[in-house]
Amino acid sequence: MPMTPDSQLTLLFSPDLIPNSVRDALPSDLHVRPLAVDDYHRGHLEVLKVLSVVNDPGFDAYRAHFESMLPANTSASKGQTYYVISIVSKQTDKVVATGSVFIERKFLRGLGSVGHIEDIAVSKDMQGKKLGLRVIQTLVALSEKAGCYKTILNCSDENIPFYEKCGFKKKENEMAKYATDSTTPGRL
Ligand SMILES: CC(C)(COP(=O)(O)OP(=O)(O)OC[C@H]1O[C@@H](n2cnc3c(N)ncnc32)[C@H](O)[C@@H]1OP(=O)(O)O)[C@@H](O)C(=O)NCCC(=O)NCCS
Repeated sequence: MPMTPDSQLTLLFSPDLIPNSVRDALPSDLHVRPLAVDDYHRGHLEVLKVLSVVNDPGFDAYRAHFESMLPANTSASKGQTYYVISIVSKQTDKVVATGSVFIERKFLRGLGSVGHIEDIAVSKDMQGKKLGLRVIQTLVALSEKAGCYKTILNCSDENIPFYEKCGFKKKENEMAKYATDSTTPGRL
């Protein structure tokens, strides 16, 4: 199935925010855009399986989750908190890579903001083609356009060289405390 044009999709945020430099750098058979509500049917969750356990919530729950990420006031300049992107195949309309950045608003640094990159995944058969790099470049651009003074992420030791290639430097340590309640879903 050929790619659905952005104009026919319900997108998480404006595609105008995606930098042209990344669009131009992608292979011509791929397209980068904001997550669309029906990326559920384009294999978004399948791609995330390279990263962690993914339980399929069904389309209705996926759509409700997507809608909860839309800003309450779309006209507010600081309205958007969640940016999730998809790279899709123009031939198959399937998602082949994804990633997200969310904007944390702080009281320090003059009411500054920090972008947190999460859930970077490139489908197995598409790894090693610079798609991970393009996802990160897009998310950093979105974070900086949102006014963040820094963009940060956590990763495994084995992915440090990848993030260094993307321009990140190792700083401090990650600590985690998982919920003990066994009904809490998802552990990375
Ligand atoms: C990690 C991941 C996102 C990288 O995406 P990718 O599209 O395969 O990587 P790219 O082709 O964009 O790599 C960019 C550069 O980083 C290098 N690189 C990528 N992964 C690397 C690794 N694990 N170790 C060393 N270098 C790595 C590439 O060789 C390339 O270097 P070059 O510019 O010198 O050619 C992808 O492999 C993936 O989805 N892995 C499984 C899920 C995961 O671990 N996600 C990250 C969670 S923190």
